[in-house]
Amino acid sequence: MARLGNATVRLDEAGSTNSLVLGKESYLDQDGLVVVARRQTAGRGRLGRMWTSLPGDQLFASVVVHPRTAAADTPAISLIAGLAVAEALADVCAVDARLKWPNDVHVRGKKVAGILVESTPSSRGVQRLVIGIGVNCQGSASDAPPELQSALTTLTQETGRLVSPDPVLQAILKRLEAHLDRLAGGHKAELLVAWARKAHVVGRRVGFALSDGRGEGIAQGITPEGYLVVEDVAGLRHILVSGEVRWRD
Ligand code: BTN
Repeated sequence: MARLGNATVRLDEAGSTNSLVLGKESYLDQDGLVVVARRQTAGRGRLGRMWTSLPGDQLFASVVVHPRTAAADTPAISLIAGLAVAEALADVCAVDARLKWPNDVHVRGKKVAGILVESTPSSRGVQRLVIGIGVNCQGSASDAPPELQSALTTLTQETGRLVSPDPVLQAILKRLEAHLDRLAGGHKAELLVAWARKAHVVGRRVGFALSDGRGEGIAQGITPEGYLVVEDVAGLRHILVSGEVRWRD
């Protein structure tokens, strides 16, 4: 029987499904629990940003995962979650979804889905992750605040048909569970190769934040941990552990 989604809490509205799960020990203790809301009023994104809720039915879900791998694999899990979402969107909508390190999901260069992985202190030695997934299913970029319109898209806009969140969620859970099992089976390197194939990042010029300013260079690939390696014009290699990159080509 499928582990992810074996129990699902469905809500009409939540502030943030991730915050809700993180605040409830009884949720965090259930490996595979999925909390899904039809609307979010205070959605959170990576790097302290907000996750905007477009009008229409969108996917806002948080999945509780007790990884059967070392805590050191958490960055890889964050990438693998993006891979699962990109593959699921291709499964359900036949779109060519690509990944932007670490785990933004884009279609035709516009963001269609985002992932926020958060961890909690372990309980009785069990590591507990909350994988928050937001997918823009319905409406179009013109429904978003003006400053976001050029950067995002929706599945309905890309496919020309009304896409419902539930089949998207089921496809994501299926892909994610299979990948987590592969990770636990010792296949991290293969998963990161699959991630890199969907990311098309190698050889691209990217900009990134440094502690004392901004850097720019050519992406070389990812490390076995899932960190991004970028070489700048001076030949200096930067290992990006977290944060984001901007395309410069
Ligand atoms: C990002 O790209 O910045 C990550 C966005 C993650 C959004 C999802 S929606 C469900 C879950 N609850 C939240 O508050 N955030 C995540």
